[in-house]
Amino acid sequence: MSSAHYQALEPQTSDEDNEDIERPPHHHIHQNHPHPMVRKGGVARRRCILPLVGGALFFIAFCYLTLSGDTRIALGLGGGSEDSEEGSHHGLGKQGVLESRPAHWLLRYTRQEPAKEEFRGSTTSQETEFKLAKQEPKLKITRRRHRFNPKIHSINFRPLNESLHVCSENYEDHRQFMQDKPRSEYGQLPIIYFVTPTYPRREQIPELTRLAHTLLHVPRLHWLVADDQEKCNDFMDTLLNRFGIPFTHMVSPMPSKFRNEKPAPRGVANRRAALQWLRQHNLTNGILYFGDDDNTYDLRLFSEIRKTQRVSMFPVGLIADYGVSGPVVRKGKVVAFLDSWVAGRRWPVDMAGFAVNLEYMAQYPYVNMPYKPGYEEDLFLRSIGLQMSLIEPRGNNCTEILVWHTQTKSKKLGLVRLESKYLDDRSNLGALLLNLKLMGVASTTENEGRNALISKNGKEKPHSAILS
Ligand SMILES: *[C@@H]1O[C@H](CO)[C@@H](O)[C@H](O)[C@H]1NC(C)=O
Ligand SMILES: *[C@@H]1O[C@H](CO)[C@@H](O)[C@H](O)[C@H]1NC(C)=O
Ligand SMILES: *[C@@H]1O[C@H](CO)[C@@H](O)[C@H](O)[C@H]1NC(C)=O
Repeated sequence: MSSAHYQALEPQTSDEDNEDIERPPHHHIHQNHPHPMVRKGGVARRRCILPLVGGALFFIAFCYLTLSGDTRIALGLGGGSEDSEEGSHHGLGKQGVLESRPAHWLLRYTRQEPAKEEFRGSTTSQETEFKLAKQEPKLKITRRRHRFNPKIHSINFRPLNESLHVCSENYEDHRQFMQDKPRSEYGQLPIIYFVTPTYPRREQIPELTRLAHTLLHVPRLHWLVADDQEKCNDFMDTLLNRFGIPFTHMVSPMPSKFRNEKPAPRGVANRRAALQWLRQHNLTNGILYFGDDDNTYDLRLFSEIRKTQRVSMFPVGLIADYGVSGPVVRKGKVVAFLDSWVAGRRWPVDMAGFAVNLEYMAQYPYVNMPYKPGYEEDLFLRSIGLQMSLIEPRGNNCTEILVWHTQTKSKKLGLVRLESKYLDDRSNLGALLLNLKLMGVASTTENEGRNALISKNGKEKPHSAILS
């Protein structure tokens, strides 16, 4: 069991691609300002204080240098921005925000001991998998916990509180056919790691169900579903297992300090957790794509992104004012971007508008997905050293829409007022309403609101007449 904590978060220290962003001066722990007394005191006072201060500074420097690099990082001493910047992540829509605020939260990956289970998806031969799939489909569920060491939490330097907990995973593809071909005919195509951040709400299960029915047609895909909550949802485990698509279900709640921000950086903790998972598995072969649960995906998207050498881009439909966001392409090269919100973003693209080759991404140890609403794509792409000339335009030189930013109308939880004594197996309603509760769609109440309407022949009936 790999005891990988999620020591992912570090302030910006070496993002080589952010040279045009001004950064406020950083305080390093070993560059403590001298105590004011030292400056103000007379010569005699200085004489007795200086050795003390010198000793203290020496002690701090000694501690700093003797801690291993990783320990320093775990303790949050890696350098960079300090508390003054915290809570400054609500810059959505403000012009010039980028100039004054650096990308300070940084994923700093550390090599972990290889996890016990190898990633079998890319190594098992197709035939073996095929036989396995024909037998009783057994669920391969493993449970693992990755948590911060509580000791690390108690240290004040970096109170960011991220966790990544794998609820269940399945590396075996239980599908026999995709798009009219048996699975074995897809050979060793690079695997698409399809990262879906999701969060509990009434529409969550329907969205994931619809998305799954798209992904069922896509060969060689591993679905990373990262839920923004603390506890694993067994209902979702069962759902994901039923599809037969290789998947990893994890929970990675947004750190509590961001929860009350407006806008809250939604989906960031999830994507960071998925990036962490990819790094922990040392995956350098395959394609990363961030696919939200409410988008609409054309199946051609998947064959397009699978060809990604470094970073590919394509227009996304139904974005903001123009109904589209995407690259401007001339003579087969990306030269600029069409998007109604620029705000200093060098890469003004939607999260669903690009794909990244993992081998390319692996060259950049400081992969950054900051908690900064509106700037996640831009700063992520900067952190992997993107250059205009590296971008591969897809979708017939960015003339076609292969992905749509559809949004489902969101409503609050349903409420059904029904006496709990009727929620048993005398009718379907007990089991139905329990399922709806597990899916986070509706809950029951005994005394709130109007009694639930139950009718027969066009007339409302008392609950007792039908259910008792
Ligand atoms: C860290 O997370 C735990 C549980 O996830 C929560 O109870 C605690 O308040 C959090 N601490 C901070 C500083 O955010
Ligand atoms: C990670 O992958 C690289 C290249 O595939 C390989 O050289 C390296 O040994 C691997 N490291 C671990 C820890 O598995
Ligand atoms: C994109 O445009 C370039 C230059 O006009 C052309 O050579 C190339 O074939 C086009 N690619 C596609 C997929 O149409």
